[in-house]
Amino acid sequence: MTSFTPALRLQDIVKTFPGVRALDGVSLTVLPGEVHALMGENGAGKSTLMRVLGGVLQPNSGRILIGEEPTIMASPLDAKSKGVVFIHQELSLAEELSVAENVYLGELPRKSFGRVDWDRLHEKTAAILDKLKVGFTPQTRVGDLSLANQQMVEIARALTVDAKAVIFDEPTASLTDAEKVVLFDVIADLKARGVGVIYISHRMEEIFHMTDRISILRDGQYRGTLHTAETSEEELTQLMIGRKLDLSRKINHAEVGAVALEVRGLSCGRLYSDVSFEVRRGEVLGFYGLVGAGRTEVAETLFGLRDPDAGQILLDGEEVRIGSPVEAIARGISLVPEDRKGQGLVLGMNCRDNMTLPQVDDLKAGPFVAEGAEIAIFDQYRDKLDIRTPGWRQKVGNLSGGNQQKIVIAKWLSMHPNVLIVDEPTRGIDVGSKSEIHNLIRDLAANGFAVIVISSEMPEVLHVSDRIVAMHHGKVIRTFTSEEVTEESLVQAISGIVAETAA
Ligand SMILES: Nc1ncnc2c1ncn2[C@@H]1O[C@H](COP(=O)(O)OP(=O)(O)OP(=O)(O)O)[C@@H](O)[C@H]1O
Ligand SMILES: [Mg+2]
Repeated sequence: MTSFTPALRLQDIVKTFPGVRALDGVSLTVLPGEVHALMGENGAGKSTLMRVLGGVLQPNSGRILIGEEPTIMASPLDAKSKGVVFIHQELSLAEELSVAENVYLGELPRKSFGRVDWDRLHEKTAAILDKLKVGFTPQTRVGDLSLANQQMVEIARALTVDAKAVIFDEPTASLTDAEKVVLFDVIADLKARGVGVIYISHRMEEIFHMTDRISILRDGQYRGTLHTAETSEEELTQLMIGRKLDLSRKINHAEVGAVALEVRGLSCGRLYSDVSFEVRRGEVLGFYGLVGAGRTEVAETLFGLRDPDAGQILLDGEEVRIGSPVEAIARGISLVPEDRKGQGLVLGMNCRDNMTLPQVDDLKAGPFVAEGAEIAIFDQYRDKLDIRTPGWRQKVGNLSGGNQQKIVIAKWLSMHPNVLIVDEPTRGIDVGSKSEIHNLIRDLAANGFAVIVISSEMPEVLHVSDRIVAMHHGKVIRTFTSEEVTEESLVQAISGIVAETAA
């Protein structure tokens, strides 16, 4: 290996923010043609390290070498011109612009007199979109695309240059399985062309499937690099969080109580039809299915975000119409949305206020909000969910991606709703906190609340649910009890293999 020049090296990188030493002398070597995973808990410093490499942030000290050349990444465009392309965890697209304009942002092809050469722009973009097998055109407005498709635009951006290194920061968080296959093909292709790929993910299956080596960060410090083929989930977890995880399910079977929510024959256009189920107090009802099966849309209807065409919703046995989220909350229904960045947080507001936002009315003592009560809620959930922040005054926008998610989850958990719906509760959450969130969900049920968990991760849905509703193409295929469910039967149900007579 000594004859090899690395694609890039980071040496002793230090980066501090007020109150936070995000990177404490981190070094990393990426070889050409390898897929190098970067792992660590939420807030460990992964995205910060990549922002330094990608020219988004300047380090306090340390060196970056591209090949043998020490270099400074003055800006993202500068980094790109040096062959380092960064696909962000948080999407950074201009929603008002077209796909093509986003893909070549800052580098639009021009004719004489500086006018944009639209034909060439669209042609070049179309060639890249072709490779990605996407179903939209260069002219589509980015704001009209789904989250997953926006992610594909970010990826398309990376393919416009002759890259030496491409960074993927949690790229699969909002992708469907089919899109993941395309992404993994893209990565395999980059690798074959000798590009060094840096891949950040909390998903172990992807890490073991995709990567050659794994570097680990913990609390801003470098903890070592392992060959993927020579390590195990246990070893990685131990290095990342410094302790063993208890993954056994907490058996706190609550007394299952009365039906809190019942849905009868609910239909909504082509999104889903004839959906029926009930969830009782003390129970966790899982919803499992492929992306696009209609689970999120059912949840959105229950939360007053969509109007059903037919069917009934009953709360505590009484039929209700839920016209808006405000009405839903007033009736004790809460939804932790899938797209937490777009729907769940005010990034410029501090951690405490984001967490207690929906409860401000309840916490009011006279005309003032009881500060102490709010801070107590914040402290409680910061400890439970291990939210990494110097204090409640920190702006949510300054937290790491996973810690932002924890704030949204805490916000809804702390309201103790009658019916809590959580859509993909642990997406982007590290392994340690994942099991904490599962425990909190079980605890809520044990305390007599009805909980609905929508998840695309089979282990998660099997782990937290008392019963599981399997959906396929907008229909409920079957409802399983935790005693009868098996992985095989669940897979068959959600792929529509099982005849609906089994219901
Ligand atoms: N602009 C900022 N201002 C203040 N603190 C910041 C800023 N950006 C990051 N931090 C802090 O630096 C630390 C590292 O954050 P980073 O985003 O690198 O974590 P991460 O490893 O990517 O985590 P995740 O898995 O949650 O995405 C965190 O404590 C975070 O709150
Ligand atoms: Mg991150």
